[in-house]
Amino acid sequence: MKSFQRVPLLAAVSLAVLSAQAQNKEVNIICSAQAAWCSMIAVTFEKSQGIKVNMTAKGSGEAIAQLAAEKANPKTDLWFGGTGDPHLQAAEQNLSLEYKSPTLSQLHPWAQQQAEQSGFKTVGIYSGPLGFGYNTELLAKKKLAIPKTWADLLKPEYKGEIQSANPASSGTAYTMIATLVQLMGEDKAFEYLKGLHKNISTYTRSGTGPIKAAARGETVVSISFVHDGPGEKAQGFPIETITPADGTGAEIGSMSIVRGSRNLDAAKKFYEWALTPSAQALGAATLQFQLPSNKETKVDPRVPDFRKIKLMAYDYAKYGQTAERKRLIQRWEKEVNSLPH
Ligand code: F6P
Repeated sequence: MKSFQRVPLLAAVSLAVLSAQAQNKEVNIICSAQAAWCSMIAVTFEKSQGIKVNMTAKGSGEAIAQLAAEKANPKTDLWFGGTGDPHLQAAEQNLSLEYKSPTLSQLHPWAQQQAEQSGFKTVGIYSGPLGFGYNTELLAKKKLAIPKTWADLLKPEYKGEIQSANPASSGTAYTMIATLVQLMGEDKAFEYLKGLHKNISTYTRSGTGPIKAAARGETVVSISFVHDGPGEKAQGFPIETITPADGTGAEIGSMSIVRGSRNLDAAKKFYEWALTPSAQALGAATLQFQLPSNKETKVDPRVPDFRKIKLMAYDYAKYGQTAERKRLIQRWEKEVNSLPH
């Protein structure tokens, strides 16, 4: 009887051992950077560390929605890339895990500040400024001037010629709204966004959609992170970028470990690896030109030079709050996106 009783217990113990052995042999990552970079880090990490990477691509807004939906039973171990505001929200909502990397001191102050502001639940991995992309050939053909300021985008000659992303799915577009609110004050920013709406042809799901469309001649102007321009240009497209002379904001692209990760050791290994200069250099190797957060990472000359940009003091803590993002996006849906073009 005794030995009979022991069977289920033994089975349970061996199952637990087996499942522990299966853990940390793989890591499930949501990647909110561009596909080429996501694939490259997956393949390189897998080869060098012997840990399988299951990678899913999602925009910043979609990524945080998925993590919130999985909260009770997380399937994701780590979230790599995407704008910093939703990573701060994930921290606030307790979707991410506190982790103080020994590498923190090797990072630029803005990346460390991102970690401190979140109670060490996220960290900066890259940064990049917001601006405009424009197709040089289309601009010349349509006899349009290069837009130099936010105000320029409201000119009637740009009607139907501009694309932006949708702030509900895209961190880029949310950064635009938060930037305008900080530059102009909230009510003026919404008046501005209503004016801009008249000139917008489409709001894309992904933040990089508009600059890809501009590069391919599907729109003249895009509102984009300007680090996304040189990669399109390197593929032979007639695209240039500019940052608004009246000031602009920048993202702190971030990385977070998911609270409740089932492959925590593997997630931490990936996290540490992703902060090394050699891993960060894979961005430029795949034509992604954000400024890397590790001070020792080689900076490609095509990375935007922050010293030449009129950068405002972006309040990451305020605009990374769940309530603030929700409120601003709802206001945009109600007052701007509902208007006819
Ligand atoms: O991958 C390019 C990029 O511009 C990143 O720098 C940024 O974090 C991300 O896209 C934002 O994507 P989305 O706007 O789709 O959330």
